Amino acid sequence: MSGGPVDATTTDAWKALTERRAGFEPDLRTWFAEDPGRASRFTFEAADLHVDLSKDLVDDALLADLLALAEQVGLEERRDAMLAGEHINVTEDRAVLHTALRLPADASLTVDGTDVVPAVHETLAKMYAFADKVRSGEWKGVTGERIRTVVNIGIGGSDLGPVMAYEALEPFRHPEIECRFISNIDPTDAGMTLKGLDPATTLFVVSSKTFSTLETLTNARLARSWLLDALGGDVDRADAVRKHFVAVSTALDKVEAFGIDPENAFGFWDWVGGRYSVDSAIGTTLAIAIGPEGFAEFLGGFHAIDKHFAETPLAQNVPALMGLLNVWYVNFLDAQTHAVLPYSQLLHRFPAYLQQLTMESNGKSVRWDGTPVSTDTGEVFWGEPGTNGQHAFYQLIHQGTRVIPADFIAFANPAYPLTDTDAGDDDVDVHELFLANFFAQTRALAFGKTAEEVRAEGTAEEIVNARVFSGNRPTTSIMAPSLTPGVLGQLIALYEHITFTQGVVWGIDSFDQWGVELGKQLALQISPAVSGDEDVAKQQDSSTQSLIAYYREKRK
Ligand code: F6P
Repeated sequence: MSGGPVDATTTDAWKALTERRAGFEPDLRTWFAEDPGRASRFTFEAADLHVDLSKDLVDDALLADLLALAEQVGLEERRDAMLAGEHINVTEDRAVLHTALRLPADASLTVDGTDVVPAVHETLAKMYAFADKVRSGEWKGVTGERIRTVVNIGIGGSDLGPVMAYEALEPFRHPEIECRFISNIDPTDAGMTLKGLDPATTLFVVSSKTFSTLETLTNARLARSWLLDALGGDVDRADAVRKHFVAVSTALDKVEAFGIDPENAFGFWDWVGGRYSVDSAIGTTLAIAIGPEGFAEFLGGFHAIDKHFAETPLAQNVPALMGLLNVWYVNFLDAQTHAVLPYSQLLHRFPAYLQQLTMESNGKSVRWDGTPVSTDTGEVFWGEPGTNGQHAFYQLIHQGTRVIPADFIAFANPAYPLTDTDAGDDDVDVHELFLANFFAQTRALAFGKTAEEVRAEGTAEEIVNARVFSGNRPTTSIMAPSLTPGVLGQLIALYEHITFTQGVVWGIDSFDQWGVELGKQLALQISPAVSGDEDVAKQQDSSTQSLIAYYREKRK
């Protein structure tokens, strides 16, 4: 990459946005009252996603400035460079090609002199064949029994995507195979997850891009010892590992060194970032759960949004618009966090998944040429499914002092259409009651409640102010017909490209993660002190020394 990133703050568009901010007084009540076309003008379609930005704090003039900013920082050029396989992950000198993982088999994409699409589809075919064998019972454990439980061992991107999607796609799962997930090096995780499992019917999928992550290798060894101990002395140990362990990694030599048959290993490539890898072989556990057809549909969903992002003019390009709005909120309205609120219990791990995607990508203080950023970057993403969040933290979103842009996500059709037949005279479709909350929340946040309206309800004057809702709290509503594998792929790709858009404006490398390294190095350095090495303990600062001493005194 020559020339370095454009400093967004030096652009004319940034200056225009700064001026606009100075006189900005959002008034969603008036904007809607005076503009009957607002909802339709600010609602966009991307594949199956119906995205309403009309309750965001945006008007036509602001949108024009944001689009000018996109142009002046070269968003489209950078997007095209990513899609073409240029090494836009500058600090690791790598292409960024998660989008190649979901290209159709008849596509072609040459990266560093090689067409990557045939290899992607070869790996998919191998993974699908394996998934089919496990699903049909053809794959047998060492004692000849079929597999009933699949345990994915991985962390970060090698865990969050698979577990989030496994939870989200519960209605599509194989009915007789349960998947479990071990990620944390806290031995409680492995201990609890393995509890009650029958080793003869358990298969481990060790998922690690690098196959060198301390947590994953430790847990894989724990699992191997657990398996061999529990199977007892009569089984051939190498055969047991071969039949109960498979691996997913870019480091197939290390997989073999661990004792896993390379035949049972599924590869991927350094141009797939860990947090962008659920659609690679890292999705093996998911492919076993939802089957090859489901997984192919999942990939199709990603690809539909990739096409939208690549081909739609920015003025209608949903990920670009959402990313630009996030820049507006972070850099001009001082938003520090962003809530993601799925009105779908199935998406209960989606906010956690997005935390890695967005915060590991955009939590940076230098740009991709090493110069310091000149603006704030990545916001804190967080959330919980509605309506649970309503009874926990929505108070702060409604009446707190901070701007918290929030994405509300809902589906027209429920996975479990249940009717409350005991509610009174009429039966209640519970999904409708649920969605009434979804619609009500964004309305309350946008339009609030004035003091006059509160008084008109007969409220005592001394508590009127406490009951006023200011409104003008920005929300985006994302709806889709149902939560299918394809729609889940679309949602993930949507957020991938939102994250990319923000990273381009900020001029950062959204695909490295150097910030996780120091803690990893120090853990290895401190480890002997925790086990009693006094010399290493003495090298620590006084706080760390005293904490280790407390631990050693209390540990039974
Ligand atoms: O936390 C850093 C990180 O490198 C993530 O980016 C990655 O998803 C995770 O560790 C796991 O890495 P691996 O798949 O190589 O075990």
